Amino acid sequence: MLLDGLRRGGLVVDTKSSATDMVTEIDRAAEALIADALLGARPEDGLVGEEGTNRPTRSGVRWVVDPIDGTTNYLYGHPGFAVSIAAELVHPDPDEGATTVAGVVWVPLLDEVYTATLGGGAHRNNESIGCSTVVDPAGALVASGFAYDPQRRRRQAEVLTRILPRVRDLRRMGAASVDLCSVACGRVDAFYERGLQRWDHAAGALIAREAGATVASLDGGPPSGDCILAANPDLWPTLSTMLIDAGADEA
Ligand code: IPD
Ligand code: CA
Ligand code: CA
Repeated sequence: MLLDGLRRGGLVVDTKSSATDMVTEIDRAAEALIADALLGARPEDGLVGEEGTNRPTRSGVRWVVDPIDGTTNYLYGHPGFAVSIAAELVHPDPDEGATTVAGVVWVPLLDEVYTATLGGGAHRNNESIGCSTVVDPAGALVASGFAYDPQRRRRQAEVLTRILPRVRDLRRMGAASVDLCSVACGRVDAFYERGLQRWDHAAGALIAREAGATVASLDGGPPSGDCILAANPDLWPTLSTMLIDAGADEA
């Protein structure tokens, strides 16, 4: 469906939270397609999707779906967009949250399917992958992203001006799930972003973690919209301190 939409062109485009937060007819149709397939096969499961699906779970399993992560890239035919799907086990005690047990990120234009299961390692197109071993931030290629709110973007860009002189270089590729998979396969050394939603990071975070990365918020807690930093365990602490010093936890 995504590739057909790209070939067809002339997509109906709408905006959501801001003028730069785009959604196409394909985002919505792809979410419906995924929800129908998953819930058709597993009717007791829950599902939460970026485009509004919110079905409570009766089985304890909940799917977390971003039908197109990187919609801006998709609109331009830029290869950095993906479908991101995670399965999580919802704990009976709501305070304990949920544990992601499986994740898949498909990057169609790169012909790459990243997968992970809890404790089962991470794979790209069925081959085992691992994160990089760079320890010194000065030698680290760091990916990041920007929220859609213009004021927040300005603050996030200011943080990057403090980080850029201290790392190898920065990348802003346009899809958090792909960024996390890039950490998982060593295509970048680290990724951090503030303001993500669960569907942006649930699958990619498991894939990065299963590839050996530490994935946590800047204070070391579970990754959340408040901040996610993924890097190998030797790079993570120094990068986290550098980001906090640069004000990343407030941007
Ligand atoms: C966005 C992408 C982007 C990130 C934004 C996300 P969307 O998702 O993951 O890289 O910087 O924070 O909202 O809107 O294209 O699904
Ligand atoms: Ca997204
Ligand atoms: Ca999306």
